[in-house]
Amino acid sequence: MTFPAGFRWGAATASYQVEGAVAADGRGPSIWDTFAAADGKVLGGATGAVACDHYHRYAEDIGLLAGLGLNAYRFSVAWPRVMPDGRTTSAPGLAFYDRLVDELLSRDVTPVLTLYHWDLPQALEDAGGWPERDTASRFADYAAVVHAALGDRVRQWTTVNEPFCAAFLGYGSGVHAPGVQDHDTALVAAHHLLLAHGLATRALAGPGHEFSLALNFAPAIPDGSSPAHAEAARKFDGIHNRFFLDPVLGRGYPEDVVADVEHHGGRFAAAVRDGDTDVIAAPIDWLGVNYYAPARVTPLEDPLAPSNCPLPALRGLDVLPAPPPLTAFGWEQSPSTLTSLLKWLSSQSNLPLVVAENGASFVDQVVDGRVYDAARVNYFMEHLRAVHDAIRLGADVRGYFAWSLLDNFEWAMGYTQRFGLIHVDFETQQRTVKESGRFLGRVAKANALPD
Ligand code: FCB
Repeated sequence: MTFPAGFRWGAATASYQVEGAVAADGRGPSIWDTFAAADGKVLGGATGAVACDHYHRYAEDIGLLAGLGLNAYRFSVAWPRVMPDGRTTSAPGLAFYDRLVDELLSRDVTPVLTLYHWDLPQALEDAGGWPERDTASRFADYAAVVHAALGDRVRQWTTVNEPFCAAFLGYGSGVHAPGVQDHDTALVAAHHLLLAHGLATRALAGPGHEFSLALNFAPAIPDGSSPAHAEAARKFDGIHNRFFLDPVLGRGYPEDVVADVEHHGGRFAAAVRDGDTDVIAAPIDWLGVNYYAPARVTPLEDPLAPSNCPLPALRGLDVLPAPPPLTAFGWEQSPSTLTSLLKWLSSQSNLPLVVAENGASFVDQVVDGRVYDAARVNYFMEHLRAVHDAIRLGADVRGYFAWSLLDNFEWAMGYTQRFGLIHVDFETQQRTVKESGRFLGRVAKANALPD
């Protein structure tokens, strides 16, 4: 397999999942500090207070990434570090990202910066959080501050990571911070997250700076071929994928999805003001594609019957248990779905695509200082083949980022799911490069064609 010249080979992390040092240099609390501190929200009562201590060990971690042969690092900036109260800039907090970016550049690693990977300053949640329209404006201010500080060195920008999860898991099912359980509220939050993306992109995108957002796609695979199955798949695909993609591509919210969610009290429709969809349609330079697994969907005869589907707005469908082979998380492994997803996205727009997250958790063991994670090597091999197939079929894919550089704090699952290319012993902070890390690095090096 050869990949196009200039292809970015990277690994991704997110601030709250790796940084730790939650009180260092004036960082304010985020919704994840609050959520993780509450009883029963995170498995084992785990928090990101220490995580991988990346805040202090970033130089070592970037050294390992560069040593593998990867040429890009996708990381996120912690808003509560840069603005402890969500509004006022903290120079020491910002300085951390200065050091991080300089370290990356000194090792010829391209920084790919995500502005929001779910750690909203708690002060802004107290003021209403994402269901409050003002949060989008606060985000635009924050984005401008980070851009002013790092824009001379950072060319690749991602505004928001996975607005679906931030809205529907944070404010709908409540399994993520801030733990609100109200689907009307989640729909409004989703709109404001997209608005935040649009406001920042409109203000900051320009020559020399590429802007993007990262959407998590779960292609819907119906478990039968009846019209009812097709309808179930349409509904799931609508709210999970098209509801976010269409407005970003300038088509506004898809009408069928708006109709599906109408019975949700009309708060969503009221939240969308004149001109909002134009803001959300601010041109981007590439689309971040986060892909883990498809959803197997089936119709439910009784639309009100309890279902496995996290979104009650999608009445009448159920999400089935994933068929094997599964990852340790219980997620399906379906590389061919990645090929069809990339092909489908290419049919929707001419935007370059970057696989901004793809990876798998497995149970790993350090034996004699090594981690032979054959299942993960296989996972990456199959998914890289899938990306390569999509490119061969005409998709304009410009990069691939493994989730994750390091084993880390996996949100509600605490430290139970290891996704890293690098194993982390959370007792000692010892790093051990896994076989999968070496494998990905070898593929990257073999394909390190100049631009
Ligand atoms: C994605 C998140 C990322 C990580 C992976 C496993 O949805 O963006 O932070 O948790 O899942």
